[in-house]
Amino acid sequence: PMTWNELENSCLGCKKCALHETRTNVVFGTGNANARLMFIGEAPGEKEDLSGIPFVGRAGQLLDKFLYAVDIDREDVYIANILKCRPPMNRDPLPEEEDACIGYLRSQVALVKPKIIVCLGRIAAKKLIDPDFRITRQHGQWFRRGDFWMMATFHPSALLRDVSKRPEAFDDLMSLRAKMKELGL
Ligand code: URA
Repeated sequence: PMTWNELENSCLGCKKCALHETRTNVVFGTGNANARLMFIGEAPGEKEDLSGIPFVGRAGQLLDKFLYAVDIDREDVYIANILKCRPPMNRDPLPEEEDACIGYLRSQVALVKPKIIVCLGRIAAKKLIDPDFRITRQHGQWFRRGDFWMMATFHPSALLRDVSKRPEAFDDLMSLRAKMKELGL
């Protein structure tokens, strides 16, 4: 098993896929290494590529507001993405990019050992919960996978584009709070 430093250093130097040619920074992940709760997004956007920190752009600011609304502190959670490098023009990740990158996330999960993993959006839900995941129908549902409870909610970027989805996303986060209480977190 790798240490955090070994993992982060190998990720920061990664050239396993073509995205290393266009990235400004690798966006490894951030937050509490002992978090009981982990959020996993899709891939860095422009602001994340420029800063090296996940969810700092407009979507991240909306995520922070949703977390605040249900009394979850960003400092208490760990946040990472399926892809550590930004796809040009924020296009969807390619299957070969996901396959090249997913080992870093699996190692992060193995080191954090969270009790709950929340997927932000369809891309993360398909990769981590079920390849046939339907976000419109299955958001807010709980899945037991190995040692973790998992659930997916709408990606904050989707909530920026479509305000009508926000009440359902809020319900998902209330369900997250209930699950945390049930698990004594
Ligand atoms: N969208 C994501 O999926 N991840 C980020 O880090 C930022 C925007």
